[in-house]
Amino acid sequence: MKTLLSGIKPTGRPHLGNYLGMLKPCLDLSANPDFKSFLFIADYHALNFIQDKSLMKELIFEVALSYLALGLDPNKTMFYRQSDIPEIFELSLILDCVCPKGFMNRAHAYKAIVDKNIAEGREADDGVNMGLFNYPVLMAADILMFNVDCVPVGKDQVQHIEYTRDLAIKFNNIFGKTFKVPEPYLKDEVATLPGLDGRKMSKSYGNTIPLFETDNRIKKIINSIKTDCKGASEPKETEGNLIYMIYKELATEPQTQQFAEKFANGISYGEAKAELYQKFIEFFGPCREKYEELKQHPDDVFDILKEGANKVRPIAQEGIQIIRSKIGINR
Ligand code: ADP
Ligand code: TRP
Repeated sequence: MKTLLSGIKPTGRPHLGNYLGMLKPCLDLSANPDFKSFLFIADYHALNFIQDKSLMKELIFEVALSYLALGLDPNKTMFYRQSDIPEIFELSLILDCVCPKGFMNRAHAYKAIVDKNIAEGREADDGVNMGLFNYPVLMAADILMFNVDCVPVGKDQVQHIEYTRDLAIKFNNIFGKTFKVPEPYLKDEVATLPGLDGRKMSKSYGNTIPLFETDNRIKKIINSIKTDCKGASEPKETEGNLIYMIYKELATEPQTQQFAEKFANGISYGEAKAELYQKFIEFFGPCREKYEELKQHPDDVFDILKEGANKVRPIAQEGIQIIRSKIGINR
């Protein structure tokens, strides 16, 4: 039996990059009976970015609702909130004590802020809180708590998994073999899905294709995908083309083949976008209906998360006892 685990921070509405890069690989793997799977809402990770009580509540609900609507089955996957498992925060503190500070100085997210501050003439750590600085350690605790084999994520999270591996090895070297050393699991084709403007699709760039907008908004958003200026009937490359890349992920193989032929024979980008829009609506239609239905029952959604926590907490309680005994802080 293998264990997979991934997390989502509730900092915005889920988009196609989250679905193709992380959630779909999680769902595909958890369909395999040899896998035990954990998927959670990293609400304390989000606190670094969302510091408004009602927005936090709204986004936690939005993310939970979206992932259930997209096919997460709480009977197959342990679905819970990080904040319901306090043992994770205890483990995070323990890992802090084996984590060299210099190691964290090199974390991409932190370094990017420092570089920007310096380039713009501010103090290096301007606007950096300790939650952001320690972000990778908390993430390591999320993972190491559950003896995880693989962590499905997009490419931007790979460095965090490397930190997790290093911390597991460091701890094991000091206190004796305790943690499994996890591997990232990447779907190469969509490990960094580009957004509407060609940069990585990300909530922070405002260039996403959200999954649960109205049909009209989705049509407008798909129509705004940046393309080159090839004429309508000119043959077009499929390689690196975002319209084709997304279509391929949502369509069957024969449909993709046909779409590729149209590209080779010269389909206009307008027509290609119209076909992609149809495919998007067809693919996500049932999820969108489920989303609207679940939205009417917030208590049911929160109950699912609570039941998930009730299953996960005993595992964490047992795990933290073992860890405490390794470090000599047990009763
Ligand atoms: P965002 O960058 O929009 O804030 P998150 O940090 O919430 O996204 O990412 C949640 C998960 O989705 C992570 O595993 C992340 O790697 C994955 N992910 C996010 N954007 C993309 C993308 N453009 N392509 C592939 N995976 C992505
Ligand atoms: N850092 C991840 C993100 O921004 C979210 C996350 C928190 C996570 N803890 C995790 C992902 C543990 C995988 C495993 O998307």
